[in-house]
Amino acid sequence: MRIAISTGGGDAPGLNAVIRAAVLSALGRSWEVLGIKRGFGGLLGEDECIPLTRDSVRGIAHLGGTILRTTNRGNPFHYPVRQTDGSVASVDRSDELLDRARSLGIDALIAIGGDGSLAIAQRLFEKGMRIVGVPKTIDNDVAGTVHTFGFDTAVNTAIEAIDKLHTTAESHDRVLVMEVMGRRSGFIALHAGLAATADVILIPEIPYQIDSVCEKIVERDKRGRKFSIVVVAEGAHPVDGEESVIGESLPGQDKRLGGICGRIAWDIQQRTGKEARSLVLGHLQRGGAPTGFDRLLATRFGGAATRAVEDGKWGEMVALQTPHIVTIPIETALAQAKRVDPSHDIVRTAREVGISFGD
Ligand code: F6P
Repeated sequence: MRIAISTGGGDAPGLNAVIRAAVLSALGRSWEVLGIKRGFGGLLGEDECIPLTRDSVRGIAHLGGTILRTTNRGNPFHYPVRQTDGSVASVDRSDELLDRARSLGIDALIAIGGDGSLAIAQRLFEKGMRIVGVPKTIDNDVAGTVHTFGFDTAVNTAIEAIDKLHTTAESHDRVLVMEVMGRRSGFIALHAGLAATADVILIPEIPYQIDSVCEKIVERDKRGRKFSIVVVAEGAHPVDGEESVIGESLPGQDKRLGGICGRIAWDIQQRTGKEARSLVLGHLQRGGAPTGFDRLLATRFGGAATRAVEDGKWGEMVALQTPHIVTIPIETALAQAKRVDPSHDIVRTAREVGISFGD
């Protein structure tokens, strides 16, 4: 048996722990393992495929990033190919990818990725590839699993940042608006904002009104709390407005969200007269060592993915359904969008301890 492993989409802390666990459990079954580098690029001549041995995965469980590298522009069904006139066309290279996998003697693939990479995995499975998925993303927006690995680390990074903002905001009587990642889900903002005691949390699932955000800040000011911390998810938007987008995306890339924090800080300063500053936490949330929770979850996912290959669970992905790791069809996970439920106890508790959602 020869299996391959790929990591696609934005990286997330814990990828290396999945790779290590999958490789060691496969080698323990006397299988061979190939690592496909740079998403699916290793099968499309953009990079290479390398043998993964005990030595290749030694000492990597605690490291952020991915030893296989990754990309969020490697969709084989819409591959960006530069034309002679300089323009970029989207080309379907999936047949080429399948041929290459066959010629390398790959019997099965463990595809580690978020919703984008899992959607690619599903289409490759439909074209006959034997695939098992592993859900990864700091955004925690893959349905069917309580958590994706990487999310806990991102939340902890955001908590540390908010703790630091508190001291400087209080010293200067300022409003500090911090933007976190999450695309169209507000899990990072909600979990970090509540745990680090933000005053306002703005998420895509609960559109905000700037007047209501300012009311909260002014009310705190009147109580002698001269500073405020606003945590905003990059996909948040006002009731009557659009999400904020950063410039042009590269071909084959999703719309890039971001920049909403600057607009909110400006509006707050204009309306309340309080000094407001903003910052984008950005890719810090994707970097660094995985937390213990993520390391354990990622390791469990890696082991479970190898068992799923052994059991021939093609087209399925591993998932945490506490307290167990199960497998579910990738198609089922992709059929729903996982978003914060505004009636969830975390939102209710946040409201009960005085946090405003700007609604
Ligand atoms: O999906 C993970 C994520 O980090 C999102 O939260 C964010 O919008 C996006 O990736 C950023 O992607 P890039 O690394 O291409 O800027």
